[in-house]
This record gives sequence, structure tokens and C-alpha cells, in this order.
Amino acid sequence: LRPQGIDQMDWEGLRQAVAGCQACPLHRGRTNTVFGTGDVSADWMVVGEAPGENEDLQGEPFVGAAGQLLDRMLQAVGRSRQGQGAQGVYIANVLKCRPPANRNPQPTEIAQCEPFLVRQVAMLRPRLILAMGRFAVQTLLGSTEPIGRLRGQVHRYQGVPVVVTYHPAYLLRNPIDKRKAWADLCLAMDTAEAG
Ligand code: URA
Repeated sequence: LRPQGIDQMDWEGLRQAVAGCQACPLHRGRTNTVFGTGDVSADWMVVGEAPGENEDLQGEPFVGAAGQLLDRMLQAVGRSRQGQGAQGVYIANVLKCRPPANRNPQPTEIAQCEPFLVRQVAMLRPRLILAMGRFAVQTLLGSTEPIGRLRGQVHRYQGVPVVVTYHPAYLLRNPIDKRKAWADLCLAMDTAEAG
């Protein structure tokens, strides 16, 4: 029940396809799909995990406590979800629907949903993708290595440079690692400039 031809869709078609998607059981529990937000000409993309309760209610990614930290992290590098081009960032999740009780995404759900992310990346062609947290990293890099092992290097997804960092929800629980996240943001800035 996932629409056909995702790899040919434009932004509006893709948005409608996500809004109507019934490819996995998560559609039954959703209030809203969470497509993504930000300027489509932004040269950075942030990829998170999945909507939580607030995101499901508002239909926008990263609007809860983790989102506030993400906004501060982006501000520190001169970017925001309202900004455009080199001041902008497009924010999306691997999953467009909220898993019940915020449980971890399941491999079948990720497999059903990933074509939407693939198309978002193909249309954005950002200079840099910042992958936040284990599920974003696993999906984009196809690796089950822990974040700590994948940080500090530049990876690629669809030819786009990918920098890996901790999820802001993790950083709220483990503020000691904010220093490493700052180093990751510096690598992301250097990488985007070099690209
Ligand atoms: N965590 C995520 O990974 N994405 C959101 O949109 C909100 C919280």
C-alpha cells in the first residue's frame, strides 16, 4: 500500500504520498505524518529517527525537548529551520510516522519508509547530511557499528557527505557528550565548506 513511482515524485507529490501512506502498521496509530521541514534549497540536511508524541501532534519534526536542543546546536553553526541556503537546514526523519510509545523503529518499518527519505535526499542534494542517532546512522550507512566508532569520519549516502553524531535526546541524558557533538558539528561545517 505504498504509492508507486516515489523516485519520480516532486515535493508536492511526495508530501501527498507520505500523508496517505499505509505501507506499515504505524499508519493506524498516527495523528499526523511528519514529512520534514525547512527550506528545500538549504545546503544541510539533518536526519533523525522518528516522530515522538509532540511531532505526531504537530506534524513537524523535532518540536519537543530534543528539538529545542537541536535548534540550539544549529544556531551555534549559524543555521536554523527558518533559514535559507547556507543559513538553512532541512530536517527529516527516517520514519514519517510515530512508533507506539516511542519504541525503536523496526527493520520492516524502516524498509517501507526509506524510499521517501531517498527521494528527499535526491531532490535536496544537500552539501552535507548530519545523521543523528543510531537509527539514522544505521539506515544511511547500512552499518550496525556504534556511533562512537563512526564519528569523526566523513561517510557517503547517495554520494552526499554524511557526518554522524549523537541524537539530541541522548545528549539531554548524557550532557558530557555535548563536547563530542560540537566536534561533530565542526567536522560538518568543514565538510560542507570543502564540498
Ligand atoms: N526525535 C527524532 O529523531 N525525530 C523527531 O522528529 C523528534 C524526536
